[in-house]
Formats: sequence, structure tokens, C-alpha cells
Amino acid sequence: MFVSLVLLWFCVFFVILQLWPKRPKNFPPGPPALPILGNILHLRIQNPLEDLERLRKSYGNVYSLFIGPNLAVVINGVKAMKEAIVTKATDFAGRPQDLFINDVTHRKGVILVDYGTSWREHRRFALMTFRNFGLGKKSMEERIHDEIQYIIKTLDKNIGKALSPQVMFHNAASNIICQVLFGTRFEYDDDFIRVTVRCFTEISKITNGPWAMLYDTFPFIRKLPLPFRKGFENVETLRFLLLGLLNEHKKTRVPGEPQDLVECYLDEMDKRPDDPLFSDEQLNRFAADLHFAGTDTTSNTLLTGFLYLMNYPHIQERCQQEIDKVLEGKDRACFDDRHNMPYMQAVIHEVQRVSNTVPLSVFHCTTKDTQLAGYSIPKGTTIIQNLTSVHNEEGQWKYPHEFNPENFLNDQGEFVKPDAFMPFSAGPRMCLGEGLARMELFLIMVTLLRKFNFIWPDDAGKPDFTPVYGVTLSPRPYRMKVQLRSSA
Ligand code: HEM
Repeated sequence: MFVSLVLLWFCVFFVILQLWPKRPKNFPPGPPALPILGNILHLRIQNPLEDLERLRKSYGNVYSLFIGPNLAVVINGVKAMKEAIVTKATDFAGRPQDLFINDVTHRKGVILVDYGTSWREHRRFALMTFRNFGLGKKSMEERIHDEIQYIIKTLDKNIGKALSPQVMFHNAASNIICQVLFGTRFEYDDDFIRVTVRCFTEISKITNGPWAMLYDTFPFIRKLPLPFRKGFENVETLRFLLLGLLNEHKKTRVPGEPQDLVECYLDEMDKRPDDPLFSDEQLNRFAADLHFAGTDTTSNTLLTGFLYLMNYPHIQERCQQEIDKVLEGKDRACFDDRHNMPYMQAVIHEVQRVSNTVPLSVFHCTTKDTQLAGYSIPKGTTIIQNLTSVHNEEGQWKYPHEFNPENFLNDQGEFVKPDAFMPFSAGPRMCLGEGLARMELFLIMVTLLRKFNFIWPDDAGKPDFTPVYGVTLSPRPYRMKVQLRSSA
């Protein structure tokens, strides 16, 4: 009896020992983890950013966490970040492939696709098409200016009143990317936009929430009818909505004379009929990816920008003085005007720094065994870029913890961009919409500041600058009072 008990005890001890998470040799350090749960208890799922900063203070700029049973390395600070995603670019250019969101998106599209031919070809295609549609040229600017007219209409209707700008900026960003993708814009109450926005929001929420974490940790629950199934349903809804739009394009397009990105893609499919990389299914997911990536990011940055400008009226006024001077006698701003507006440039970049819109970037994955900061990291390790740590890093910014455009101005008042500015990330997976986003932010902010004053309403109390955590950070809902400028 005693011998059996001792044997049983040894067996249990052995099983626990096997399950106990262990870090490989010379792997970045991190907090002790529990079997199965890993370091989940070290992170608040509602907002892990402060926890990640706390762990950085204990374990340094490169540390590791067990997300469930899987190992992830968290990279902090500009030095380690650059070593990984710029210097050792391809080693760190993969995407994890065994997560909830990979199953939901069927490993198609571009954002979450692993480093390889399909990703490379779609990325190259998107960048080339954006360029041909006039990124940096007039036609893309015109598309943005067209949409700005709808924003102005909304603001004009609210002169002297306080309005909630969330829906307005969200729809503007969505419509600009829709113009590029489908050559069309949608009214703010259009079914396509309403349902698309609902699906995007729900998918983001599930992906960021506890159910996706359970899905990733316990593969055997993946087929069960649990709340994460809603994510799959939403993706199907999106697929059907887009299918209708794409079929419409197939009927109306003139081959060889593309009017938008979808038609360019259909031309590309004609050119390579036997290439499975370019297919209807791929196009569907690719368009959804670009629409998703180009909407919340830009609109949340704009929302943060106007929140700060209202609460720093002297900065708003100084922008307006510069805009008035540079645009004197001109109808409207063009993107090239930025070269004569160092202060406005500094303000937009400072808005992007404090917005920290995509705080953990998109998870990367190592494509081979590699090294970082002297540690060994095996192929297939999830990489979390803590961009927050770079944007607030002491020693990199004149004023790391306050909203201050001086962060981007030198002693001569010229615009300078410090190395630690990376809201679009860097390296081969860097945001492919950077050019479009920068043009949108500049043209929208300049045009609106030229025409209107934005005022924090008297009855709104003290502003709360703490953002709401999600795939993208968004400011808490607020209202803004709009006045027509006397000089406009
Ligand atoms: C202020 C606006 C934006 C910000 C802050 C932003 C930020 C980012 C970040 C941090 C990444 C992850 C990069 C990485 O994994 O290293 C990313 C990826 C991406 N972004 Fe943006 N983005 C913005 C606007 C846009 C727009 C307008 C588009 C539309 C075309 C877009 C399309 C994409 C795509 C397709 C990727 C995936 C790239 C890849 O995996 O190769 N983004 N973005």
C-alpha cells in the first residue's frame, strides 16, 4: 500500500513536472508561469499595457511570457525593436498561425498571412496599386478632399452646438478606403457600412477577449458551440456582403481599364488565370483586410487629435496661424504644403505619438532560429512589439510623458522625426497604408482647422485622456463644440 502511494505520488509529481512551463536555454527571462494557464494571471485582459510596462521594469527590454502553453517574446524600447524588425527583418517577419483570428480569417488576405509568397505578392500588389491610384499624386488627394466636404457639411450643420464626432470620423476614414477599394462611398446609414462596422467591432472584441484566449490555449474546445463562434459568423456575413459588391464589379468593369483596387485585382487575375494566389476568395479577404486596417486606425488618431487640440487651445491657435499664412490665397491644402508647415507636421506627429493607435502592433513570429539582445529565440516564437514602450521611452523624447509638439521640433523650429517614432511599425511588415494615412491626417486636420474652431464644451467636465484598450486604442467618447472661424 505504502509503495503504491509513493509510486502514485511520483507519477503525479512527474506529470506536473512535464506540464510545468519551461523556457528554452538562453531564452529571454520572464515571470514564472503556471501549467496550462501560463502567465495569463500576470496580464489584465481588459488592458494589459500597464502590466507589460511593469514586467519590463522587472525583466528588461526583451522578456518572455507564456500565453497559455505558448511562448511569446515581448520587445520594448527602440534599440531592441530596431534590432528585431529592421536589422534582422526577415527573421522576425512572420505572423503566428495557430490563433483564433487565423482560423476566423482562413489564413487569407494580407495582414495575418505568414511570411511567404502569398503575403509578398499581395503586399507588392497593394503598394503598387496605391501608387498608381495617385498616392502622392493628385487623384488620391482629390478622393480625400471629396470626403472632407461631407465632414464639413456635418460640422456646418452643428455650428454653435456640441456634437459627438465618433461616427463622423469613422465613416470618413471608412469611405476614403472604400473609394480606393471599390470606387464608391457610402451614406452614413447605408446597410453595407452599418453591418460591416458591426462585424469588424465584434470580431475585434472577441479577438481581444477571454474567449479567444481560451480558444488559443485549449485546442480541444475549438469546435464547441461557445461564444467565439460569433467571430466565425461575423466573418461569413462580411464575406457575403463583399461577394455582392465584387460580383457587381465583375459585371460593370471594363477589363484593362481599372477604376479601383478591386478592378486592378480582377485584371491581375486575368493575367494569371492558373495562379491560385490570386483568386476570388483571396480578393474577398484582401479587400476586407484593407477596409478593416484603414478605418479604426485613422479615425481613432483623428479623434485623439481633436481631443487634444480642444484641450490645448494655444496649440490649436498656433496651427491655425501657420495654416492661414501658408494657404493664403489658396483654395485648399495639398499634401505638399506640409513641407512649409513644420509646426502642423510636429502637431500631427505628436498626435500620433500620444494616440499610440496600435499599441502592440500586429503580432509577429520568428521565421527561423535567431538571436535578439544576446538571447536565443527559436523559429515559430510569437513576437509582441510593445510600441507603447517606444513612444514613451525616456531618453528618446524631450517630453516623453506630455502632449508637446516640441518633441518634433529642433531649436530652429524645424520639423524633425526622432528614431523612436514608429506608429506604423518598421521593417518588411510595416503598415502598408502609411502613405494614405499620413495624407488623410494632414488634409483632414489642416482643412478643418482652417475653417473651424474646436472647443471643449463648458459642461463636459475635465477631459479624460486615458484611452479605451482594444486592437486599436480609442479615446473615450466625447463631444466637441464647433465654431466657424471669423477669418474662414
Ligand atoms: C493612423 C493610421 C494607421 C496606423 C497607426 C497603422 C498602424 C499599423 C501597424 C502598427 C501595423 C502593424 C505593422 C507590423 O506588423 O509590423 C499595420 C499594418 C498594416 N496596415 Fe496600418 N495603420 C494605419 C492605417 C492604415 C491604412 C489607412 C491602411 C489601408 C490600406 C492600413 C493597412 C495596413 C495593412 C494591410 C497592414 C498589414 C501589413 C503587413 O502585414 O504586411 N493601415 N498598420
